[in-house]
Amino acid sequence: MDRQNRELRSLIEPDGRLRLWLENTPMNAPGAGEIVVRVEAAPLNPSDLLLLLGPADPGSLRQAGQPHRPMVEGEVPRELLPGITGRLGQALPVGNEGAGTVIAAGLGAEALIGRTVAIRGAPGTYAAYQTVRATDALILPDGVSARDGASAFINPLTALGMVETMRREGHHALVHTAAASNLGRMLNRLCRADGVPLVNIVRRPEQVDLLRSEGAAHVLDSSAPAFADALRTALEATGATLAFDAIGGGTMAATILAAMEAVAARRLPVYSRYGAPTPKQVYIYGMLDPGPRVLEGQFGMAWSVGGWLMTWFYDRLDEADAGRLRERAAAELLTTFASSYTGEIGLAELLSPDSLRTCTRRATGAKFLIAPSRDLA
Ligand SMILES: NC(=O)c1ccc[n+]([C@@H]2O[C@H](COP(=O)([O-])OP(=O)(O)OC[C@H]3O[C@@H](n4cnc5c(N)ncnc54)[C@H](OP(=O)(O)O)[C@@H]3O)[C@@H](O)[C@H]2O)c1
Repeated sequence: MDRQNRELRSLIEPDGRLRLWLENTPMNAPGAGEIVVRVEAAPLNPSDLLLLLGPADPGSLRQAGQPHRPMVEGEVPRELLPGITGRLGQALPVGNEGAGTVIAAGLGAEALIGRTVAIRGAPGTYAAYQTVRATDALILPDGVSARDGASAFINPLTALGMVETMRREGHHALVHTAAASNLGRMLNRLCRADGVPLVNIVRRPEQVDLLRSEGAAHVLDSSAPAFADALRTALEATGATLAFDAIGGGTMAATILAAMEAVAARRLPVYSRYGAPTPKQVYIYGMLDPGPRVLEGQFGMAWSVGGWLMTWFYDRLDEADAGRLRERAAAELLTTFASSYTGEIGLAELLSPDSLRTCTRRATGAKFLIAPSRDLA
């Protein structure tokens, strides 16, 4: 192909120096069954930040490079380097998902030329173009733009996967933390539609108002003095014994397990020194707080804490179930699974310390969309 690609790269050197820049790479013609997508919109999700900046201190970011070849440099504190040895010295592509227009196709995939599709990052969607297998792309319905479809995979399939996990593991209601996130708002809409009782945990009063205005029945503010009591009351009302915790660090998982155990123990006809036999599960599925996890408290003997990743869950589903979830995600992209963004930014524009600090806040209602092909020459 007579085009050059331009991809965002993130490199952390073994001494902790972070570098971000745009790499020009040659493009090959698509092979049989492949499509080339001009990436028009890609979200900056919390999981992208883990790769983009790693554990670099945002305060250390500084401008480098030239105006026509921008680069940002920064520093990862030395004590955090052992946690990322696997990536040191590698210039990694970034971007887990996105959407855009098919501009070329290999044998067998020609019918997709001109269609708007959503893709998962392989290797990274923060690039002007991505070549993917046509069968891995989600063809967006007519009238759905790349912007609307940019987050078609990760959060919708995660919300669906949480409810699917609940059913498969014999639970009947859910607890969710950091629940005013884009994902949390989707989960709230999904649970309302499917009649699944949901306990939403947020950390600010304005997030309580937001979720209540969207019809959530149980919204608890973890910063309120009566949080622990309110949690037990909500667990009693819903019967939730499964939680998905996006915070990861700190005491939230333990607080939830202790409240589940207290509610289950109250229902025991006879006291047991081993606690209630009801299985209580917390899946930690995010790392919003990278600090240590503290598992202190009385949970009885029937509890478990584990990790959960949508892609691994999804890859274990059989064809029919995976297809069912994908179809629902696509069909309800503008309703149940709608995402909201605070702004849009080109790749070159992103490469300044101020832009990076603005776009990587991970705060409620502050998610940015990247427009990787917007400022192509
Ligand atoms: N495991 C998986 O397969 C998977 C898949 C998809 C998403 N996720 C995870 O799901 C979470 C939400 O993703 P998203 O794209 O929906 O995020 P988002 O829209 O960017 O929202 C982030 C939310 O997290 C809250 N938050 C940030 N730091 C926090 C902390 N230390 N304690 C409590 N709340 C905190 C923010 O609230 P404030 O405004 O109060 O800061 C905000 O409401 C992320 O952790 C992401 O990594 C995991």
